[in-house]
Amino acid sequence: MGREVVERKVPELDLRPLSNALGAEVCGLDITGEFTAAQTAAIRGAWNEHHILLFRDVDWSPAEHISFSRLFGELDIHEATPFDRLEGYPELLEVTNKPKNGKPSETRNTGRNWHSDYAYTNRPSASSMLYCVEKPPVGGDTMFCNMVRAYDELSPTMKEIVEGLHAVFDFSLVGRQNSEKTAELRLLNPPIAHPAVRVHPESGLKALYVSERASHFHGMSKAESRPIIDYLCRHATRHENVYRHSWHTGDLVLWDNRTTMHVALADFDQTKPRRMLRTTLLGEPSGFLVPKADEAA
Ligand code: SIN
Repeated sequence: MGREVVERKVPELDLRPLSNALGAEVCGLDITGEFTAAQTAAIRGAWNEHHILLFRDVDWSPAEHISFSRLFGELDIHEATPFDRLEGYPELLEVTNKPKNGKPSETRNTGRNWHSDYAYTNRPSASSMLYCVEKPPVGGDTMFCNMVRAYDELSPTMKEIVEGLHAVFDFSLVGRQNSEKTAELRLLNPPIAHPAVRVHPESGLKALYVSERASHFHGMSKAESRPIIDYLCRHATRHENVYRHSWHTGDLVLWDNRTTMHVALADFDQTKPRRMLRTTLLGEPSGFLVPKADEAA
């Protein structure tokens, strides 16, 4: 039976900034249940403006997480990393250090370097919605940086240089522990080049699209590319361009993968459980596969 559409006062969202660089908490809004198109558009508008939205005290089921996420676009079923899905829910990634089927979890070290989700695919993620189910007593934080500001704050000459580049994203730089799985997943997700500056399809904002998972720029050697990639990542992740989120159970964080990068910190006692569930919205098709012969030395 369908639930009643509750008239919420969403167009006047109560937003509180999370940091100077990016992010806003949406206060006093119950996101379980149904939304009208106008209400969804108001959330989308705030999201485009702040790049990250935080909802607190969310208490919902995997099915509710999925149906809320669908309001904002087409969901990825995570075929790029099929081992990480929550059983019975291909739309949900389970990021956890809790053992699975008596074995160490494949996702216990997910996201340990600065990245944008699924940049190593031809539908790099538009956005992600991460829900905290269980958290360690201290730490287990996630940091986010603003890639629109990172682009804006480059010099005109550097902007021109970077706009002409394509960054090659390589699965082997994802940093998974299991080298056999990494090799298997790299075959599934061969190196792919995306423009190093991308234009957000809704806001029209330009954002830097380079991360610690970029091996080089297409047409350049790794040695030539490395200093530029390192500089851009350092520039993007300066303290003043970052928001650090300390999770509470029931937090839901929405981030835009086209305008932010994030990193999941190992700043906690790994014997304490951390369990997160993530939906991922598909982005526009992008990039080109890098022929083996063109892989830079
Ligand atoms: C991710 O990279 O999507 C996971 C982030 C986290 O677990 O904090």
